[in-house]
Amino acid sequence: MSAAPIVYLNGSYLPLEEACVPVLDRGFLLGDGVYEVIPVYGRRAFRLDQHLLRLAHSLAAVRIPDPLSRDDWSQVIAEVIARNAGEDQSVYLQVTRGVAAKRDHAFPELIEPTVFLMSSVLHTPAGEVLEQGVAAVLCEDIRWARCDIKAITLLANVLLRQDAIDAGAAEAILVRDGEAVEGAASNLFAVEAGRLVTPPKGPRLLPGVTRDLILELAAEHGVATAEEPISVDRLKAADEIWLSSSTREIMPVIRLDGQAVSGGRPGDVWRQVHGLYQDYKAALRRGGPTATG
Ligand code: PDD
Repeated sequence: MSAAPIVYLNGSYLPLEEACVPVLDRGFLLGDGVYEVIPVYGRRAFRLDQHLLRLAHSLAAVRIPDPLSRDDWSQVIAEVIARNAGEDQSVYLQVTRGVAAKRDHAFPELIEPTVFLMSSVLHTPAGEVLEQGVAAVLCEDIRWARCDIKAITLLANVLLRQDAIDAGAAEAILVRDGEAVEGAASNLFAVEAGRLVTPPKGPRLLPGVTRDLILELAAEHGVATAEEPISVDRLKAADEIWLSSSTREIMPVIRLDGQAVSGGRPGDVWRQVHGLYQDYKAALRRGGPTATG
């Protein structure tokens, strides 16, 4: 296996530095595309079926024809994992509407989608970082009305994440009409008297794959769960706040807008569910849950 990253671009596997996309690609000019980030543990893709289902949802929502079959997607993903270094990887997958003859907002006819995959070593937050917890800030959600689509058009998310960093926080929690919906690149959970609550799926938030697994693991292990809107007041009164994503796993928030959450330490329910999540990953590495599990 070569040490240089190998990527997949439109049917070919090639070194990253050789992968080029024409400047008339609509992803480049218009942000006209969708993506997925799939974590890989012990060379096994985490919840592959769920990621591919979400990809299919995003493609259908933006009317890009799905360029590959389910089996071909899983084969290309397996090949990208095999050709790159690292037991734990993060596979990035992007499909744009393709390369048009000229810049025009309307869909061009008869163009082929551009398909690109790359993989990098997965760096999840270290145990000590999670044990310390992170700070978050509340920000007005300035994104569009279809946040359920995993679109590459991420300018609002980029600005919101940077606002959080500039405020010394790890993430921005986005507020729309008085409700906290999700993070700039993560889903949101609150714990209230031992009950785990997360906002319901819908156009205001990305249906996170990590989110769904957290709900499943919690329910299987006796933690009460609910999908309910979380107002800002409710969030501020919560016993615990967490943020979840494929690359950051389950991050306990210990400061919100400068105020301590759960006494400034990760809470007990986080500790339990974080442990279940780590056990799930360990089982996947051992070949326990299948690549689709
Ligand atoms: N983002 N909400 C938003 C807006 C996100 O961008 C993400 C993930 C999530 C969590 O989804 P999942 O659990 O499936 O990773 C929620 C990825 C990691 C990214 O853009 O890099």
